[in-house]
Amino acid sequence: MLFDSELDRLVRAGTPLTETPPWRALAGHWRRICGLEMRDMFAGDPARFRRFSVAIDGLLFDYSKNRITEETLGLLLALAEASGLPEAAAAMASGEAINWTERRAVLHMALRNRSNRPVLVNGRDVMPEVNAVLERMRRFATAIRDGSHRGATGLPIRTVVNIGIGGSHLGPEMITQALRPFHDGPEVRFVSNVDATDFVEAVRGLNPAETLFIVASKTFTTQETMTNAASARRWLVDGVGDASAVARHFAALSTNREAVATFGIDPENMFEFWDWVGGRYSSWSAIGLPVVVAIGFPRFEELLEGGHAMDRHFLEAPLERNIPVLMAVLGVWYANFVGAASHAVLPYDQYLARLPAYLQQADMESNGKSVDRDGRRVDYSTGPILWGEAGTNGQHAFFQLIHQGTRLVPCDFIGCARSHNPLADHHAKLIANMIAQSEALMVGRTRGEAGAELERRGLPAGQVAELLPHLVFEGNRPSNTILLDELTPRTLGTLIAAYEHKIFTQGVIWRVNSFDQWGVELGKMLAARTLDEELRLLAGDEVDLAGHDSSTAGLLRAFAEKARR
Ligand code: F6P
Repeated sequence: MLFDSELDRLVRAGTPLTETPPWRALAGHWRRICGLEMRDMFAGDPARFRRFSVAIDGLLFDYSKNRITEETLGLLLALAEASGLPEAAAAMASGEAINWTERRAVLHMALRNRSNRPVLVNGRDVMPEVNAVLERMRRFATAIRDGSHRGATGLPIRTVVNIGIGGSHLGPEMITQALRPFHDGPEVRFVSNVDATDFVEAVRGLNPAETLFIVASKTFTTQETMTNAASARRWLVDGVGDASAVARHFAALSTNREAVATFGIDPENMFEFWDWVGGRYSSWSAIGLPVVVAIGFPRFEELLEGGHAMDRHFLEAPLERNIPVLMAVLGVWYANFVGAASHAVLPYDQYLARLPAYLQQADMESNGKSVDRDGRRVDYSTGPILWGEAGTNGQHAFFQLIHQGTRLVPCDFIGCARSHNPLADHHAKLIANMIAQSEALMVGRTRGEAGAELERRGLPAGQVAELLPHLVFEGNRPSNTILLDELTPRTLGTLIAAYEHKIFTQGVIWRVNSFDQWGVELGKMLAARTLDEELRLLAGDEVDLAGHDSSTAGLLRAFAEKARR
């Protein structure tokens, strides 16, 4: 039976999750070890890095700079086991409807299943359909790349503009940017925001006769995407002067055939995916088409292979050597036992600058939940606030708070051993900064060290005493470091899949559904009503806003008045 772990049974029998033996053991353990300093643990154990790091093909995961002992790890992994993680992972892989609120399977792993082993949903193997869509993507993207797909006036396509939002934008945008060194196809641009500025700037300077729009939307009903798609259609038809041009200048990526046809996109140019692909897990599906256009199909296949390699690792490696599981339980450790509210992702690679934004949706839309699998309000923290910025830029912005602020912010540092741009000593400096930051966070600087430093600078005693408290770094601040050999389609696929499985594992431990997103509904619903009222106010109509609070009504009237001036 699905989700019938040892902890499920205890919780259903009335024991709060946080009162179950594995949680209590961890809480007690934290009380015992909270005074331990990582710098002492390193000093006392020269093998700590070796013991607390895992290397797989192309990726090294170092988690030794965490406030953990072997015992901590054992207790955390015991929690994962008791939560039914191995069974839940197997259920996901075998196509069970683990997204129970939407009664759907969760099979992004099938999209990158390079073994081609059958994957069954309701008894039917989905692999033939997955492979057929991949083959159609290959043919279409190849025709755009080699110029055989021509626009309505006979010109080849020089620019592809992807229109989508959320999962239909963040993944392909992040991946396209990350794999920029591999671009050998037409330019690819992205539009997501309903703010017209996004669309206007994206098409600035483009020739409609040489532009192809990809409308990416799982539902094909999303307000932002459909508004941008309609503007794109007008821009194209006005530019080319022929309404039938849409057939050669638009493609759709969606699960909704009917809506795509209604919009007027040629079914030949529609690339399908399925309800068992969550939006934020969809870059591996047809949603990856802009990536294929940019880097070509063989490179896209390497991305899928990297994801598949991480899937096998996640499903087969023992928990104590399992990178996503380790990432997940460390996150649970800090969120639920040490009291951290957020988690920083800090890629020391400019090509990965959009990774934090991508992971914000992946993580926060998945585990930003407060109701458990039995429909009850949880009384413990779930998904962290995920944030970050590329290094070294972040160092000159918010690292002050991470080093000396009052909040604990566990960090993931991500870097690459080899750079695509080996210019002078840039890369050595970049990676030296990354490694030094993780060391500084861990060792800190004691009063004695700070005092000695000030004296060395020759400051008078009075000034030393005054400055001393400000120069002390508590240290003992945790981080993971992920070192890729090089940023390639394959290592990027491995990295993304590692975070996906981390999120899954945490959702299992927190007993939430990581695959629905009801929390975005209310805002969407209210925006539809507000838009109607706003349009009538702008037209000068009398509108009854009594159903709103005074702030909402006041803002609506103020906007309409100012906009009409
Ligand atoms: O509003 C959130 C959301 O539903 C995401 O889950 C999704 O990725 C995004 O909107 C876009 O949805 P669609 O692909 O259906 O346009």
